[in-house]
Amino acid sequence: MDVGIRIGIVTVSDRASAGIYKDEGGPAIRAYFEKALTSPWAPVARVIPDDRALIAQTLIELADSEGCCLIVTTGGTGPAPRDVTPEATEDVVEKPMPGFGELMRQVSLAKVPTAILSRQTAGIRGRSLIVNLPGRPRAIAECLDAVMPAIPYCIDLIE
Ligand code: MTE
Repeated sequence: MDVGIRIGIVTVSDRASAGIYKDEGGPAIRAYFEKALTSPWAPVARVIPDDRALIAQTLIELADSEGCCLIVTTGGTGPAPRDVTPEATEDVVEKPMPGFGELMRQVSLAKVPTAILSRQTAGIRGRSLIVNLPGRPRAIAECLDAVMPAIPYCIDLIE
């Protein structure tokens, strides 16, 4: 059976990973791709705490061992001391892709003035595109709608 491409979905949250509350971001990303993608794909999902080394290790595993051509993170992009997803992303990418964060912040600002608080970024590791999203479930569609048109082309270019 053709399972198609693999997409990494990483929820970064101390509380969701500890079971204090339910992960809503991961399922929202999955639902978004279920609607948006017409060809077969398979999710590779992880729920992890806001730990820079663990986030970096998870991104490396999904890119290098799990063969995900796209990895989307949710959470940990803000200014709080535990928010380190952009730093962990920068630790593992070979090529930063700052346009993704710039565009997502720009479109998000039209919806919420607090969009400026997200330091979300993106980058390329090997044949994987890694994209950060904020943790609020409603931010997922708001941000992915903006960058989706460029994602298949970007993945084609790094194959
Ligand atoms: N972007 C969109 N599109 N929608 C949102 O609700 N929330 C903002 C911002 N970006 C938001 C958004 C808020 S309140 C914060 S604190 C930052 O994302 C960082 O969120 P994070 O730390 O959960 O990643």
